[in-house]
Amino acid sequence: MSPGRSAPPAVAEADAALAAAGARAIAARIVARVVHGRLLDRALERELPTAPPGQVPLIQEMTYGALRFAPKLQTLSTRLLKRPLRERDADVSALLWVGLYQLIHMRIQEYAAVSCSVEAATWLDKPWAKELINACLRRFLREKSALLAETAADPEARYSHPLWLLDALKQAWPAHWPAIVEANNERPPLSLRVNLRRGTREEYLQRLRTAGLDATPLPHSDSGVVLQEPVPVSALPGFAEGAVSVQDGAAQLAASLLDMQPGQNVLDACAAPGGKLCHLLERAPEGTRMVALDKEPARLPLIQQNLRRLGLTAEVVLGDASEPGSWWDGRSFDRILLDVPCSATGVIRRHPDIKLHRTPAELGKLQRLQVAILQALWPLLRSGGKLLYMTCSVLPGENDEQLQAFLAEHADAGVAPLSLPFALARNPGVQILPGEQGMDGFYYGCLRKS
Ligand SMILES: C[S@@+](CC[C@H](N)C(=O)[O-])C[C@H]1O[C@@H](n2cnc3c(N)ncnc32)[C@H](O)[C@@H]1O
Repeated sequence: MSPGRSAPPAVAEADAALAAAGARAIAARIVARVVHGRLLDRALERELPTAPPGQVPLIQEMTYGALRFAPKLQTLSTRLLKRPLRERDADVSALLWVGLYQLIHMRIQEYAAVSCSVEAATWLDKPWAKELINACLRRFLREKSALLAETAADPEARYSHPLWLLDALKQAWPAHWPAIVEANNERPPLSLRVNLRRGTREEYLQRLRTAGLDATPLPHSDSGVVLQEPVPVSALPGFAEGAVSVQDGAAQLAASLLDMQPGQNVLDACAAPGGKLCHLLERAPEGTRMVALDKEPARLPLIQQNLRRLGLTAEVVLGDASEPGSWWDGRSFDRILLDVPCSATGVIRRHPDIKLHRTPAELGKLQRLQVAILQALWPLLRSGGKLLYMTCSVLPGENDEQLQAFLAEHADAGVAPLSLPFALARNPGVQILPGEQGMDGFYYGCLRKS
């Protein structure tokens, strides 16, 4: 077609229908990859470049949604399918989840959701599955209330959480678990951290308004902002030049809780990709020396990228926090930020694949690693120094219980009290539950060395 001329209506309609079917097919492929054990972020990276133009937001919505409600959609699919599909047709099973997700949770006309999902089977190169998807989705629409009532009787399907996690949440939070589960199933807001070295939060809010983006300041923070509607980072004014970073409000508390003072030697022990590290550096007092450690070679470039974008510097070190002998130069630290690897059960709404991947056995392994890192780093803290231990977990076994056990075994460790007006007091430390003031779930506990 010659430039400047638009497609005839019939051609444009056919293109749109093809793109809509392609979006469902790609969402199904991503979901299938995650079901096979891939991380959602990696599956998105792999499949999104093949998305038809303009379809990425829809694909993301369907992918995140289908994974968020995977336990419920799996139960419904089992009821709708006469027999389980073969392993190699995991993309067709995932397409059924994507179809059901649209019918239950999205404001898309039913006929459009069904027909686009049916056509997606062709896109997946499995035209034989068109009839199957059509029959299942139409049966779901006919028997919707009965099917949903039936699935609601099964706790895993009703709350869309694996049973082991539901049990763990009920045990840890007898009064709060229903709210936690509900928050885990919600779409998270896009929260930002304004780089106060480049301007004030009020100035950045003005830049957002000028760009047509509605946002409000995060309470209890001088740099946090929440957007009304999520947008790609490329749409954020000044993002590439370091005016702002994407960071949840609860994660933004680390920098002030670490209580850095001028001229201190600071270690961020599990630093990649560098979100909290960069916040520490944005707020670091005069004369701070910052060491950023991480064990994963592939993740160090992410730290460097963030530092470069924000115009910050740190000594970035590849090393294992549980074996300081291999990287430590012998200079004691005044402050240690220990953002340990954890179950990430506080950030399920941002990473719904956690529901499919995390297992109780893995939890035990993570807890042992947390103890090993804490024990190994304690001797590196100077007398009078503080270690801020944190996780994005809501499970006490990774949080206050870890610090309690550590305090019982270390006579030179005491509690440095933390107080946040909105967090739940733990012994020691504080817990922010997911959804609290729109934030993710984080635990913070601070130890002082005598
Ligand atoms: C929760 S993430 C850290 C997030 C980071 N603090 C931020 O704000 O961007 C945990 C990090 O710990 C790293 N890690 C895991 N085991 C480690 C170890 N033994 N020593 C150092 N880093 C480790 C992982 O590679 C991962 O990057």
